[in-house]
Amino acid sequence: MQIRNSVVLITGASQGIGAACSRVFDERGARLSIVARDAQKLASVGGPNALRTAGDITRDEVRRNVVARTIERFGGIDILINNAGMGLYSAAWNAPMEDARTLFELNLFAPLALTQLVVAGMRERQRGAIVNISSIAGKMTLPWFTLYSVSKFALGSLTDGLRMELKPYGIHAMTVWPGYVKTDFQAHALGTRPPDAVRKGKRFAVTAGACAEAIARGLERDARNVVVPRIGWVLVALTRLLPALVESRLAAINQTRASA
Ligand SMILES: NC(=O)c1ccc[n+]([C@@H]2O[C@H](COP(=O)([O-])OP(=O)(O)OC[C@H]3O[C@@H](n4cnc5c(N)ncnc54)[C@H](OP(=O)(O)O)[C@@H]3O)[C@@H](O)[C@H]2O)c1
Repeated sequence: MQIRNSVVLITGASQGIGAACSRVFDERGARLSIVARDAQKLASVGGPNALRTAGDITRDEVRRNVVARTIERFGGIDILINNAGMGLYSAAWNAPMEDARTLFELNLFAPLALTQLVVAGMRERQRGAIVNISSIAGKMTLPWFTLYSVSKFALGSLTDGLRMELKPYGIHAMTVWPGYVKTDFQAHALGTRPPDAVRKGKRFAVTAGACAEAIARGLERDARNVVVPRIGWVLVALTRLLPALVESRLAAINQTRASA
């Protein structure tokens, strides 16, 4: 997928990975439409020609507005990057259902609804890409983050299905599976705190800029999956090959929180 001159709609662009994507795609000559709730932060992102929409994408009217404004300004949408997302540090067995619903509205239903809104135009032009930012937690269930994992597994499965559904119309779908990325993501999560080992164990953390570069390069080569950093593939392989061992290690890490 060529990025230069493509119209790229990025959610959650006011900071973190979304802001870094805005910079990286701007540098590659994309025409940007960016959305997040914090208008002030959004104002400093995306370059002089970016279209900015402040709003909560879990609301249907905000989603319809951002898509309509983007089409009005640029004539269409070529690439949708469903990046906005949040964590939930509560055990699934006693997490407030309201938090679980809030999580799924942002991490799964908003990406699905936005995809539905942009696909019609992409089908007409026989061109487009949907990029969904999942997480390595969508490849292996993290017990301090069970419901987050559930939402990210679901997002990955949605992306696989979309890719197969939309192939006849020239529309690609790509999942991104980041490990730790240096952003304020943990501070923005709902629920309690992660175990200490998780808060401190960021040996392989990458910058948001490195993550955004990996996303752009993945799109340019029509990748189906982008794992960043690549060492994440080792975790994925271990989870597949030695599931009981990985599970007992993760449970032990989680226990440090339970007993804290
Ligand atoms: N950081 C990591 O280690 C990591 C690892 C794996 C996957 N991920 C995934 O990467 C994505 C981005 O994470 P990040 O680390 O960049 O997180 P972040 O720093 O917390 O940024 C989240 C972004 O989403 C926006 N946002 C949150 N709720 C929103 C809403 N209801 N409507 C519109 N925008 C909303 C926030 O802006 P406003 O507050 O202005 O709305 C912000 O721009 C998420 O999907 C996350 O699950 C992150």
